[in-house]
Amino acid sequence: MDFMRISRTVFVSALAVFGTSLATDAAAQGATQVAARGTPAAANLAPPSYYSAVQGVLEGNCVTCHTENPVSVGGMIAPFALTTYEDARRRAGSIARAVAADYMPPWDADIQHQGTFKNERYLSDADKQVLVDWAEAGAPMGDPSEAPAAASFAAVQVQEPTVAPDGRVWLMGIPDLVVGFDEPLLVCEEVEDWQPQVPQRVISGDLGQPRWIRGTEINAGPKVHHTVSSLLGVGTPGRGPFEFPEGWGLLMVPDQYMSISMHYHKEVGPGTEVIDDTRGGVQFYEDGTRIDHVVETRLQPYNDFVIPAGHPYYPVENVTHFDEDIYLLSMGPHAHYRGTAVRVEIQRPDRQFRETLLWVPDYDFNWQFQYELQEPILIPAGSSMITTWYYDNSNGNPYNPDPTVDVTYGAATTDEMSNSRIYFARTQPLGLVAGGPIPTEILERAHAADDRARRFAREWEDGSQSCANAAPGVASR
Ligand code: HEC
Repeated sequence: MDFMRISRTVFVSALAVFGTSLATDAAAQGATQVAARGTPAAANLAPPSYYSAVQGVLEGNCVTCHTENPVSVGGMIAPFALTTYEDARRRAGSIARAVAADYMPPWDADIQHQGTFKNERYLSDADKQVLVDWAEAGAPMGDPSEAPAAASFAAVQVQEPTVAPDGRVWLMGIPDLVVGFDEPLLVCEEVEDWQPQVPQRVISGDLGQPRWIRGTEINAGPKVHHTVSSLLGVGTPGRGPFEFPEGWGLLMVPDQYMSISMHYHKEVGPGTEVIDDTRGGVQFYEDGTRIDHVVETRLQPYNDFVIPAGHPYYPVENVTHFDEDIYLLSMGPHAHYRGTAVRVEIQRPDRQFRETLLWVPDYDFNWQFQYELQEPILIPAGSSMITTWYYDNSNGNPYNPDPTVDVTYGAATTDEMSNSRIYFARTQPLGLVAGGPIPTEILERAHAADDRARRFAREWEDGSQSCANAAPGVASR
């Protein structure tokens, strides 16, 4: 077996831990604020106008999601466009609040990771200040002739969508294989937040033999806030397709177990029920493509913890040991409403200190991110990955379903989780060819992973399969 897992819970004084992270954050913030004050935008005495500054900030950071008639790849879409002066003026106050609170643009990784992850969304302090000052000045329009040329909005990425014969829209192109539910799922009236784990089957396409996955995309229905699946990756608004580096592939076996963890979020009450038929698209490498790295994924679930009632910052440590060299591709920590921060660290065998791979100081359950590294990181054999989740089980946490109970591991949103899904690959280049023979050892590994997913999912499905079991309206933003 490649992995040996030892997990333990460490009891650290909440105050000590809290104190350290506060100090670090304060230092980081101090540094960036000083930097922001020195920028021309902040030094300029005239308040920014829409055309002189605001339009550029919105175009570069917001309109991929906040756009008129967003490409309907399904799922939850941003509730309004921010593409014209009128759009922005009407919402100037809530824009300023959303960015000042770091709620928008949605991205949870700490600023220390800037440049590390794909699809990161950081709004600079200077740009944030532009939006806040503009709102305070009464959202002046300015002069359209001041507007920067459209070409300067380089951050706006346009991906041509493809419409499949059944009317579904895909950004990745027509998938080779489409997977979906056995039958469309009813999300009933009483549901505000509901997270069933739903089995999936092949809807179209051929999987008569093992195939190498190059990329995936989730085509979610309305009221789907986000999805998590071992096969399809993570689906969040604005996410788009999920692609592995060229020559890296996840091996899909013919009887592959497939399921997807849905998170529905909607208004409650008569007439609010929806039928959802979320699908996933898979693209395979063309026959003849060289495959050097087999991508694998681990959920790293850990369940041996009890979060005491009322505790404001309770740490739970989850440790995985690696006994062979791997390249780490991505990390996707997952907890529920009491999860408030998470740190992923690596302890290499030849070092005295732990190295932080990911620090999420203010975890937002509503946004599940799979943090994909720009460049895979080499983790040598003998290293440990330490994922520390911090939970706020106090009444100071507005999302806490019940601060008076001790909380343990479980599937319902009222229980907790302390997972961290990773994608990784062994380092040795294999020189395989898509469509060609696959070594037995690699097939066996794929089947073993498949068996683990099957066993784990069954346990999860039991608790959360019907609308009726959904957690009653828990506050969410
Ligand atoms: C990845 C997609 C995405 C990006 C990028 C994004 N938003 Fe949003 N935004 C959303 C979604 C989805 C919602 C509604 C759901 C929610 O509030 O969680 C939202 C909600 C909002 C709201 C309403 C918040 C509230 O209090 O209800 C404001 C204001 C907002 N966005 C402004 C912005 C601004 C300004 C930017 C750029 C700096 C931005 N957004 C970038 C997806 C996005």
